[in-house]
Amino acid sequence: MSRSIKISPSILSCDFSKIGKEVEALEKAGADYIHVDVMDGHFVPNLTIGPDVIKNIRPFSKKIFDVHLMISPVDKYIKQFADAGSDIITFHPEATDNMGKTIDLIKKCKKKVGVSLKPKSKIELIKDYLKQIDLVLIMSVEPGFGGQKFMPEVLPKLKELKKIIEKEKLNVDLEIDGGINFENSKIAKEAGANILVSGSTIFKKNNGDLKKNINLLRQN
Ligand code: DX5
Ligand code: ZN
Repeated sequence: MSRSIKISPSILSCDFSKIGKEVEALEKAGADYIHVDVMDGHFVPNLTIGPDVIKNIRPFSKKIFDVHLMISPVDKYIKQFADAGSDIITFHPEATDNMGKTIDLIKKCKKKVGVSLKPKSKIELIKDYLKQIDLVLIMSVEPGFGGQKFMPEVLPKLKELKKIIEKEKLNVDLEIDGGINFENSKIAKEAGANILVSGSTIFKKNNGDLKKNINLLRQN
């Protein structure tokens, strides 16, 4: 069953002086999800926002908050991000010493569970958990910054996961994140992604015409 393509703009590339308004504009421009990149300056060499910012932007949109936690440790913050209004909480296997426990913590908060693989992280890290999760986020850049170049070497991993999900009839979305633009969005979808994350392409191309850029990524 082919899943509809969803676009999840990353607010990492937005104007941080008015994040609420930017989220509102993304909803008006037709975003399916809002991708929120949380970085702690420890798991990745960059610092962005915490749960209080999510709490403050929550009223600006009814869209799904697709929260990407690039933080470690992660377990002790799950409830704060859940209470702040996250809908999907995605973590990195390398950020926890017990994936099952982290998954259970997210489920206990009644949120959807995502796990994210960095470009060099292997599928073996998450294979045993595919039945317990809702989404796999395949990173096509090293986590930490927007505006990086897409790494096509992650596509075989995406294809492999797609095969496993189809074979085992799992209800798991495949999201690709990093360097997605109008040229590579097609191959990302053909490889199996049904959710595309994009920051710099959506906010910077075509003079920042959000609606046009979201549609171009969805259609290409
Ligand atoms: C990087 C983040 C990505 C990034 C995407 O660590 O996880 O979501 O912001 O931004 P672009 O689309 O500019 O690569
Ligand atoms: Zn992200």
